[in-house]
Amino acid sequence: MLNLFEPLKIKDITIKNRIGMSPMCQYAYQDGMANDWLKVHLGARAVGGVGLILTEATAVEARGRISPFDLGIWRDEQIAPLKSVVDFINQQGAVAGIQLAHAGRKACTMPPFNGGKPISNDNFLWWQAVAPSDIPFSELHQKPVCLTLEDLLIIKNSFKAAAVRALTAGFQWLEVHAAHGYLLHSFLSPLSNHRDDEYGGSFENRIRLLLEVIESIKIVWPENLPLTVRISGTDWVEGGWTVFDSVQLAITLKEAGVDLIDCSSGGMVPKADIPVGSGFQVFISDKVKAEAKIKTAAVGLITAPAQADTIIRLGQADMVLLGRELLRNPYWPIKAAKKLGSSIQVSKYYERAY
Ligand SMILES: Cc1cc2nc3c(=O)[nH]c(=O)nc-3n(C[C@H](O)[C@H](O)[C@H](O)COP(=O)(O)O)c2cc1C
Repeated sequence: MLNLFEPLKIKDITIKNRIGMSPMCQYAYQDGMANDWLKVHLGARAVGGVGLILTEATAVEARGRISPFDLGIWRDEQIAPLKSVVDFINQQGAVAGIQLAHAGRKACTMPPFNGGKPISNDNFLWWQAVAPSDIPFSELHQKPVCLTLEDLLIIKNSFKAAAVRALTAGFQWLEVHAAHGYLLHSFLSPLSNHRDDEYGGSFENRIRLLLEVIESIKIVWPENLPLTVRISGTDWVEGGWTVFDSVQLAITLKEAGVDLIDCSSGGMVPKADIPVGSGFQVFISDKVKAEAKIKTAAVGLITAPAQADTIIRLGQADMVLLGRELLRNPYWPIKAAKKLGSSIQVSKYYERAY
């Protein structure tokens, strides 16, 4: 029977266990450049035995940043500092993955620790946000500019160019961020996409941009490396994106060559009735995996070793991603192995600490 410490092989890449670090924005960078903070933030969890280390949302365009201090991959100068982080992660026996992102209409805000509010247009830090339709995310957010067909070509090319840079930096796993109300999710959901061209209206039209982004990435991303997508499995709002939609999307993404769906949820509207609780999104991963017959990752309030192990044993997901629990305890995998009675060596250096 599969368990949390069973390796996971996708294409030519083997992750040593089923534990991944979920992407978590740090808002710690100037001009999108990776730095020591990123190396320590990700590196500590690699030392702690996490099999797959995912970067936070990494902007493919400067206007696609959530805040002015986001990590970025829109310029060649951003490759070298990222490579140094990737090399360190690899030296710990972990696989390094990158989350490529565009914030869309949720761009141009201050980091949470500076209040998290949208930046006003009289501030020199301000820039114009873009979206499928000119509907702001909230009353506080700026009105985004509606993207033209020409703009969409530019965005697809930005994802493609970012994938080339990611490859040059040494990443072996690529995740496209199509969740949490950011640009690609905002095309998927009927709540934010009111277009009347071929990118809006029907389900087929709303998923078109994501599919074209995947297609353009696939031109440059090697066939032997995993390509994955994070989705919001549901908007948790009447009239929004549903788990049923997610299954249909996952079937299409599988046909398009996507290897795994990372199943998160929410983020489309400022206030939604979300039943937040232990493992509250696991049912999405379970359903997408069973019905679309594609590999999945489960995420969201997975904190206990037995809980994570059970998700894998029951086949509800192929891997689990941990966010805040890894912030609290970077060496969680070592502790988990001990608790689960596994004799596996999780981390080369810190085994004796437990
Ligand atoms: C500080 C912080 C930053 C986050 N940044 C991102 C991000 O960049 N991309 C993303 O897809 N999710 C992001 N998330 C969501 C996490 O990846 C994860 O899905 C969520 O925290 C639920 O998992 P957890 O309960 O294990 O923390 C962030 C969460 C936190 C707490």
